[in-house]
Amino acid sequence: MSTFQAPKGTYDLTPPDSAKFLAVREAISAPLRDSGYGYIETPGFENVELFARGVGESTDIVTKEMYTLTTKGGSQLALRPEGTASVLRAALQANLHKAGNLPVKLWYSGSYYRYERPQKGRYRHFSQVGAEAIGTEDPVLDAELIILADQAYRSLGLRRFRILLNSLGDKECRPVYREALQTFLRDLDLDEETRRRIEINPLRVLDDKRADVQKQLTDAPKFRDYLCDACKAYHEEVRALLTAAGVAFEDDEKLVRGLDYYTRTTFEFVHDGLGSQSAVGGGGRYDGLSEMIGGPELPSVGWALGVDRTVLALEAEGVELDLPATTSVYAVPLGEEARRVLFGVVTELRRAGIAADFAFGGRGLKGAMKSANRSGARYTLVAGERDLAEGVVQLKDMESGEQSAVPLAEAAAELAKRLG
Ligand code: HAM
Repeated sequence: MSTFQAPKGTYDLTPPDSAKFLAVREAISAPLRDSGYGYIETPGFENVELFARGVGESTDIVTKEMYTLTTKGGSQLALRPEGTASVLRAALQANLHKAGNLPVKLWYSGSYYRYERPQKGRYRHFSQVGAEAIGTEDPVLDAELIILADQAYRSLGLRRFRILLNSLGDKECRPVYREALQTFLRDLDLDEETRRRIEINPLRVLDDKRADVQKQLTDAPKFRDYLCDACKAYHEEVRALLTAAGVAFEDDEKLVRGLDYYTRTTFEFVHDGLGSQSAVGGGGRYDGLSEMIGGPELPSVGWALGVDRTVLALEAEGVELDLPATTSVYAVPLGEEARRVLFGVVTELRRAGIAADFAFGGRGLKGAMKSANRSGARYTLVAGERDLAEGVVQLKDMESGEQSAVPLAEAAAELAKRLG
């Protein structure tokens, strides 16, 4: 193993590709920031207990995928595998729900960790941008979140994604369905592990990807037939609101999601260009999570979109993001004196808010001009001894190729004018 090898299932973000990730985070968070969501940041690790109780003792995430550690002080911690439990914990700790301003609308962006079998689109360290709306039961809120995610993806230029929608019922109707499903599943021909799953988490069996299992599930009881009237009405309202907003979705009875806290509305954004790891984002309502982690009743809803997979989706669709060059002016000094003088001009430009960069290390004209080109700068400033003796710098427009001498003292002002 080389010392320079990132750990298995992880990768580094380096320029120029890293700019795409920043742009994706920006595009996903912009509609949230414009819709009353405030930024929240929580630690990268939490007490294991939070995820065990919140995400669910029987989920793959908690039983197989969590990075846990014991600190020198004896605390049991886990690197966060997801954001919802942490964000709700933080909101409760800060008493945000008591400020008389429900729902508490929050957005976040960060790294998450799951010990999964790595493959394209599935990593052990990945990045999400998420949103949580805490403390209100209102179908408009569910619709708002789905519409904002749709808007974010569209603003990036993505088109080949679909929204899958389902309802998982509430504490009234879920247990009834669960039991009916268990009775059905117990009669099937299934392996030991799946039989165990029937007893702890039967809904997850519906999510089994194996064809022989899926074949046996054709006649499984449908949640649709078990939803109580309140859940049915709630779901119909969410569907109607999405339709009214022109957001297309597909009803997907098999959508159960991999976390235990969901109630009622659940949804996933899938992209058809991604192969098996097709979920670019997902979320839903979690009306019981607050109580599960020891808080008051706070019905809530949220989602998280995967930044890594969103970037893969952009690549799959051949979408080139319009990323403006970060440097507007590139300075190329030829000689000691020019170095000092042009660095002064660069500093002046930067202070005036103009993005400027500099050919460091006393490089020759040819190499420095190559860097100027690569920087994407609209203008270069070149100066040698003779220019300085005449009190000028050469200002080159990299688009037209035109070059002219400008008095040194006016260089910054001239650039400011030309760059508008
Ligand atoms: P999740 O479906 O587990 O939901 O993750 C959301 C998104 O994160 C996925 O759709 C995927 O794009 C990305 N993701 C998950 N695992 C990986 C991985 N191993 N590698 C790359 N990307 C990954 C949640 O995390 C919930 N907290 C969402 C939520 C918020 N529900 C309510 N509020």
